[in-house]
Amino acid sequence: MNLESEKIDSHHLNGSLLKIYTYPAKILKKKAIPVKTFDDDLRTFIKDMLFTMYQAPGIGLAAPQVGRSERIFVIDIDYEREKIIDEDGKEAFKFHSFNPHVFINPKITKHDGEILYEEGCLSVPGVYEEVKRFENITVEYHDQWGELKTLTADSTLSVCIQHENDHLNGVLFIEKLSLIKRQLVTKKYLKNKDKK
Ligand code: CO
Repeated sequence: MNLESEKIDSHHLNGSLLKIYTYPAKILKKKAIPVKTFDDDLRTFIKDMLFTMYQAPGIGLAAPQVGRSERIFVIDIDYEREKIIDEDGKEAFKFHSFNPHVFINPKITKHDGEILYEEGCLSVPGVYEEVKRFENITVEYHDQWGELKTLTADSTLSVCIQHENDHLNGVLFIEKLSLIKRQLVTKKYLKNKDKK
């Protein structure tokens, strides 16, 4: 590992832990608004989103999930989180291989193919179900500096982008299931949630 990636790695281990809203919170149903200003407030928020995603841990997090109804999401499908015992004999986590992606005002401009993929969501904890998605997508978006970018993705990254993009439109992955499956999953989820 070179010095540069060492620096980037430790950067993601600082930030504020944001509250993650879970289903059936109302904010998850709202259509998020576009980002207009690319300033330090935005970049601090994104840093906190990444920090929160890594600590959760999850591979994607959309702004509405942490209570901010704006068209932003972050993804990292590459990082690794390892359980270790620290000097005091306590359980801790060691992270490496961060590869964060930041998407602001994303638009899926091309898609083709079909893929079945087992998804989960930090806002619907404990639920994992297969969802049908496009296999390949092209997405246009802004980064945290306001620069316009284009990315072509397949497989896990493609599925993850579609899942997070749905959050910006108030759609959860469980809504992609058949009606029967969805009712079953929702009933079980709410029952478990009440117990907690
Ligand atoms: Co989600």
